[in-house]
Amino acid sequence: MADQLLSTAPDYHSLPENYIRPEDQRPVLTEVVSDAHIPAIDMGAPDRSHVVSQIGHACRSYGFFQVVNHGVPVELMLRLLVVAREFFHLPPTEKAKLYSDDPTKKVRLSTSSNIRKETIRNWRDYLRIHCYPLEEYVPEWPCDPSSFKEVVSAYCKEVRQLGLRLLEAISLSLGLEEDCLVKALGEQGQHMAINYYPRCPQPQLTYGLPAHTDPNALTILLPDPDVAGLQVLKDGRWIAVDPLAHAFVINIGDQLQALTNGKYKSVLHRAVVNPEKERISVASFLCPCNYAIISPPERLISEGSPAMYRSYTYEEYYKKFWSRNLDEEPCLELFQ
Ligand code: SIN
Ligand code: FE2
Repeated sequence: MADQLLSTAPDYHSLPENYIRPEDQRPVLTEVVSDAHIPAIDMGAPDRSHVVSQIGHACRSYGFFQVVNHGVPVELMLRLLVVAREFFHLPPTEKAKLYSDDPTKKVRLSTSSNIRKETIRNWRDYLRIHCYPLEEYVPEWPCDPSSFKEVVSAYCKEVRQLGLRLLEAISLSLGLEEDCLVKALGEQGQHMAINYYPRCPQPQLTYGLPAHTDPNALTILLPDPDVAGLQVLKDGRWIAVDPLAHAFVINIGDQLQALTNGKYKSVLHRAVVNPEKERISVASFLCPCNYAIISPPERLISEGSPAMYRSYTYEEYYKKFWSRNLDEEPCLELFQ
């Protein structure tokens, strides 16, 4: 089965047929805005109320922002990227052991996004693992590279703390109690997708990931420090994200859009691929617990701002998300 993986396939000189998008669905790379910046927020700044208001502004106007001085040790971020790259460079027989196209598996190596549903593939392999509680999942994680478990678990702990601090700041930015959103998510789940985008012979014909919104609450992305690829939709145009050194890129997921009653948007984004270089990114996702009922706090509902979505459980939402193709209509609309 692992011959399905791009990271075990030959170095192609042209794109195989099943990766080529119809002409009207291709990325028009010449129209991408490359000199715009998504907001950068210094989380270590002494004036917390200023940090909170910057986060509120970024969530309202972009749905995306980058953070520096975020408290996660830079050395750990760099070690994670090394381990991630080493993993995808393992021999095919090692990777074959982890291969699965079943989205319900809690540790799996796969390709594209949801190959059970897709007719056209994306130029990506990914390792998707559940990360919380760590003691439940670490035993199932890959043993190769030998430092994988140690590095990834240390990273997951740090990123979770950062995520919780961001959720507190996001709550405050909406005039809510500091712990409001953390409580609304219940005992948060945490997942990670380690993305590997090989060098692509014809990046104008395909995607690493097509335009999508994230199904979780909050995404904390560790981008490749050397190769760009993430693009964000802003006012109808695609903006290429060029992150600051050692920054994380944060975005609002569908669950925060629902919990904020649409005040903060889960924004479309995509990953394009590179003709010369492979690219790695590591996305950490904070999610509600499965049985959390997703419904905004009273304070965010008023006559002028009536409830936008019917309430649902995250379990219901997540099933719906994986029953479809990533580039179909954003899933949240099905809950209106
Ligand atoms: C994602 O949208 O999950 C990944 C984006 C990226 O690789 O930059
Ligand atoms: Fe995403």
